[in-house]
Amino acid sequence: MSYRKAFIVSNALMLAAFVWAFAKDFNAPWRPYQKKYYQMSADVLEKKAADEKDPKKADVLKAEARKMRHSPMEIKQIISSDLGRFDRCVTCHVGMDEYTNPTLKNDFTQNPYKSHPKVDSALVKAHPFTKFGCTSCHSGQGLATTVEGAHGWIKHWEKPMLKGVTIQGACVKCHGNFETLKGAEVAASGKKLFRQHGCQGCHAINGWGGVISVDLGDIADKPFERIAGYNFKRVKIDGKELPDEHHDSHWNIQNWIRGHLVNDPVAVTPNDPFAHLNAEPIPPSGMPDFTQEIRREEADAVVAYLSGMTKEEVIPYRYHVPAPAAREPQLSGAAHGKYVFEKYGCQGCHGLEAKRGRRRFNASSSAQKEYDPKMPEKEQFEQMSLGAEPTLPDLMGTYTHEELVKKIESGVSAADAKKWSPKGPMPMVYMPSWKGKISKGELDDLATWLLSIAKKDDSGF
Ligand code: HEC
Ligand code: HEC
Ligand code: HEC
Ligand code: HEC
Ligand code: HEC
Repeated sequence: MSYRKAFIVSNALMLAAFVWAFAKDFNAPWRPYQKKYYQMSADVLEKKAADEKDPKKADVLKAEARKMRHSPMEIKQIISSDLGRFDRCVTCHVGMDEYTNPTLKNDFTQNPYKSHPKVDSALVKAHPFTKFGCTSCHSGQGLATTVEGAHGWIKHWEKPMLKGVTIQGACVKCHGNFETLKGAEVAASGKKLFRQHGCQGCHAINGWGGVISVDLGDIADKPFERIAGYNFKRVKIDGKELPDEHHDSHWNIQNWIRGHLVNDPVAVTPNDPFAHLNAEPIPPSGMPDFTQEIRREEADAVVAYLSGMTKEEVIPYRYHVPAPAAREPQLSGAAHGKYVFEKYGCQGCHGLEAKRGRRRFNASSSAQKEYDPKMPEKEQFEQMSLGAEPTLPDLMGTYTHEELVKKIESGVSAADAKKWSPKGPMPMVYMPSWKGKISKGELDDLATWLLSIAKKDDSGF
């Protein structure tokens, strides 16, 4: 091809690309929203003008209305360079754009036209949109200009918009003081529930807590590829499977966390206890079934709290509000021991108030029948599910104070577990060593409390 021909062809291609881009932009999904906002706002101004007695003021209002009606259509963007945000949300949510609507208030009742809730509150005043953008609280995809794209309800967007109370996870990211912060009450109660139920007995958060399972300090960043579709297929919320036609608006990290609390985790992560697919049997999730203990709204609170657990989103130091100094309660003796039990999450395995050991799959327990290899698998599975961590009051009578302290310090390794089915998997949950984690004074009081709840021997001897 001669240069001349190539020149003509490339020009033609450029023109086509230009026309295509123009047409695409003209049909851009944000346009009708922006246009409607201007029209609705102009209508409001015109109505005000019509009601205005003073003709001069009416003229001003009419001029404003005209200007509003003929506002140029454009992509609007909040650049929050400190937080690395380029948020185009106000392209559609025009009522939240300070340049178009300086008071940030209007009477529209529908998204994306209405004004931001609580515009007069500390929530909006303390975080000017021009500085914080939108996605620092809401997540979603700041640069996108389609509804699904911006709200992050598309494949491969890892941070879909936080909705409802879950948005309080955002407060956790920046506010070390979220436990006493106005507007973050749900996330604060989520943290309380997490501690009350002893999640920290198995899961650390940023290095503090148990070693049985993953550190949840970056759970909000967990990529979807690491939660395979077949795992999501097993998650039921309110008794229903998650639809995957709106892929990530349902298959997201929030529902993955929620799924662990409103289902028996064994149903979510069944693995391969009978070695059907692997050479060795693999126990199902070692996580206890919390469905009888944690209500649905409480699960949502835990989800809100854990939604703030991110390492990927780096919050500059000056955007971080420090936590108040942690204060330990003034307790001593057995009362302090009970507090220590709960602080370290012993109840995660030994049950609330140490009343009943939780499930420890395929560990042997007194509740089980004798192992019989001829039992159907379904029944074997049920028997394995009756394996449990010790119910401590039953056993404390056999310990002296010193022995008990030593036992807690040393823990019991997984290899020492007694299995119910010799062919079944090793129980994955074991008694971790607490040496160096719990201080000497705490350990002493802990042992004092455990001994105080020992079941009295009523055998008559
Ligand atoms: C292309 C237009 C468009 C863009 C861009 C857009 N939105 Fe929206 N938004 C809408 C519409 C339309 C609704 C109402 C219908 C709906 O909920 O899907 C809405 C609803 C919402 C809601 C309420 C959701 C609910 O379920 O109550 C929130 C919160 C929100 N948007 C936040 C954002 C944030 C944050 C961004 C930027 C990352 C953004 N939007 C960008 C059009 C848009
Ligand atoms: C400081 C955190 C924060 C920032 C920044 C923020 N929002 Fe919000 N937004 C919230 C909270 C919290 C709510 C829920 C308020 C409520 O009803 O309790 C909310 C609610 C909303 C809603 C739902 C309104 C409704 O009632 O249906 C929309 C839409 C929305 N925000 C859009 C935006 C947009 C667009 C921006 C950026 C211009 C933005 N937000 C910036 C915290 C924030
Ligand atoms: C990107 C970080 C960031 C996010 C996200 C964030 N905040 Fe803030 N917030 C701040 C900073 C910084 C201040 C200013 C603190 C100061 O002035 O000392 C502040 C101040 C406040 C204040 C007023 C001062 C106070 O402590 O009472 C309130 C209330 C508040 N935030 C609530 C919230 C709530 C509720 C959320 C979640 C919906 C939230 N914030 C999300 C950074 C953030
Ligand atoms: C006895 C130990 C144990 C306790 C107590 C426990 N978990 Fe787990 N958890 C696990 C194990 C083991 C897994 C990994 C298997 C699975 O996904 O079910 C897990 C997985 C998870 C996951 C998914 C993590 C990921 O990276 O996919 C979340 C979220 C979670 N747990 C939250 C909690 C919460 C919240 C609590 C307290 C209400 C809790 N866990 C209590 C053992 C425990
Ligand atoms: C991750 C689950 C888990 C956590 C958390 C946990 N334990 Fe245990 N604990 C076990 C298991 C499993 C056993 C039984 C080990 C065995 O004998 O195979 C056990 C055994 C014990 C025993 C010995 C009981 C006996 O058999 O005589 C004591 C005492 C005990 N735990 C106290 C504690 C205390 C105190 C804490 C909190 C500091 C704690 N445990 C936290 C799982 C746990």
